[in-house]
Amino acid sequence: MNNPTQPRITQATTRRDFLKTSTVAGGGVLLASLDVARFAHAAGNDVIKIALVGCGGRGTNAASMALQNAAHANVKLVAMADMFADHIEAKLDILNKRCAAQIDVPPERRFVGFDACQKAIDCGVDMVLLCTPPGFRPMQFEAAVKAGKHVFMEKPVAVDAPGYRRVKAVNEEAKKKNLMVAVGHHLRHGATHREVVKQIHDGLIGDLTYTRAYFNTSGIWNRERKPGMTEMEYQVLNWYHFVWLSGDHLVEQHVHGVDVCNWLAKDHPPVEAVGMGGRQVRIAKGIGELFDHFALQFTYAKGLRSFSECRHMPACWANCAHHAHGTKGFVNFDFADNATICLEGQEEKRVKHTGAEAHQAEMDDLFAALLAGKPYNEADVSADSTMTAILGRMAAYSGKLVKWDDAIASQLNLMPDRFALDAEPKSKPGPDGIYPCATPGVTKAL
Ligand SMILES: NC(=O)c1ccc[n+]([C@@H]2O[C@H](COP(=O)([O-])OP(=O)(O)OC[C@H]3O[C@@H](n4cnc5c(N)ncnc54)[C@H](O)[C@@H]3O)[C@@H](O)[C@H]2O)c1
Repeated sequence: MNNPTQPRITQATTRRDFLKTSTVAGGGVLLASLDVARFAHAAGNDVIKIALVGCGGRGTNAASMALQNAAHANVKLVAMADMFADHIEAKLDILNKRCAAQIDVPPERRFVGFDACQKAIDCGVDMVLLCTPPGFRPMQFEAAVKAGKHVFMEKPVAVDAPGYRRVKAVNEEAKKKNLMVAVGHHLRHGATHREVVKQIHDGLIGDLTYTRAYFNTSGIWNRERKPGMTEMEYQVLNWYHFVWLSGDHLVEQHVHGVDVCNWLAKDHPPVEAVGMGGRQVRIAKGIGELFDHFALQFTYAKGLRSFSECRHMPACWANCAHHAHGTKGFVNFDFADNATICLEGQEEKRVKHTGAEAHQAEMDDLFAALLAGKPYNEADVSADSTMTAILGRMAAYSGKLVKWDDAIASQLNLMPDRFALDAEPKSKPGPDGIYPCATPGVTKAL
């Protein structure tokens, strides 16, 4: 979404004017200004060089969608970074099959290890796609912005309150440098979500009384520990199962629905949360420290409430959807960007998704803004949605009512003291090989 607080730069703005604006706004930060100025006037033949950091399932799709965006044909993938060399090779094969002409990633621009992200940032790219586990997001976002790179980063953007504060602070720098910052909340780019949420804001269902969001699935993958792996290596490989890397599934996946509920509440995050959850099914040896179910209640200013559930359990009711309820009716939304509008006394109306698939639309919107030189920054609202999910996790882990102001001030830092394959993660298995999970009423969660 465009940031309304930023000065709008029109296509008519001259390169000289743009540089002046950028230099004044950015306190003399020239590198980013030059990049943006170039994009503000890019004829279709300017090459935009991108690096993919985190070569997994999502990163591969994000890279191909960036290369195939509808706004600018001349995008090239020139660098790839991952913790594991085989992940790069496997995904490079896939990308070469999809769009070989736009890929130029020779072995010297394939980077491996904890410093791979920095190396990719430093090899002459214009934009980085940050698609690593979310625990790394704040530091990688900081490195990209420091180097004056435009950013597409996946959701969630942090896993704890220190990470949230870091993203917010770094984003202030990104805005000063006129950098484009997109975040992978694709539903905000789905044509139906956009139109119907706007209509709800304009009174379609009367006053909003409550919202609901569900991310109930059978669960996710588990990557086995390989012989000789250090504990750090294993946790990074099997990242979803560790809170310092994924934030737990409430933060990792359910943040999509949480984000839509915040959006429905006009992007004012909740003031407090209560909730519960536990680990009932996912207890088998070695599967990490996450809960497998959560049920939450977020309260916004003026009493609006949002009820939220997420679950990782096979053979149970699977449902991923979100709903807005008002004084005159309600709307059901699904993840394929369809909606059903149910107004009192009227036949229900189905609004089917149209246009580009929402993940593609988010890339199309980013590149269109980049070429037009329009300010584009999704990090603040996305960070608030990430923090809302973290607030919910704090409430469920601790069993307490947690206030937003206390949550965002939390000093609980989940990150290890150093990043190296022989470093100790803070999460450790017990003597039985089982990683402990939070115990409501006992665990200090903020
Ligand atoms: N918006 C969406 O619809 C959507 C869908 C899927 C995933 N995602 C998000 O994308 C991110 C990645 O998810 P995924 O499913 O692709 O996971 P994945 O495990 O398939 O990929 C993550 C990759 O990052 C690599 N990695 C780990 N630590 C790294 C580091 N420090 N530096 C560089 N690379 C590192 C891993 O080795 C792996 O290859 C997550 O934040 C997830 O929430 C978003």
